Amino acid sequence: MQATQTDTGSDMDLREAARAVRENAYAPYSNFKVGAALRTRSGAIFTGCNVENVAYPEGTCAEAGAIAAMIAAGETSIAEAYVIAESPDPVPPCGGCRQKLAEFAAQDVPVTLATVDGAERRTTVGDLLPGAFDAGHMDRA
Ligand code: THU
Repeated sequence: MQATQTDTGSDMDLREAARAVRENAYAPYSNFKVGAALRTRSGAIFTGCNVENVAYPEGTCAEAGAIAAMIAAGETSIAEAYVIAESPDPVPPCGGCRQKLAEFAAQDVPVTLATVDGAERRTTVGDLLPGAFDAGHMDRA
């Protein structure tokens, strides 16, 4: 899984981090490169790209890579997310990635979806996954 941690600080912009890591995506089967960048409550930025596999279901999404990098660094709280791809419209995260983001982000956390051409759509984790399954649903287990 390709995932990197970049320097903390305001000079490293979330958009540029996502754009840059997208270049490293390994997507020989779909040809669809995706980059994701997360800013945590501490201000650190974590990035990830999609990593495909010849056994297709073994591939991983960009968001999953960025989350793995965040967790590996000992952080758990997403403050902002940015996802970019070369698509006609700002790329919507897949269902699984919406659930993964919701694990580490409050409902009001902003998520920017973008195209490499510069189109952006701002949404939130809650809008991407209304009615999310969470730990409270297991209270009677
Ligand atoms: N992909 C992501 O990385 N994130 C998403 O949210 C949507 C899909 C990747 C997975 C696969 O490598 C390629 O895009 C085509 O589905």
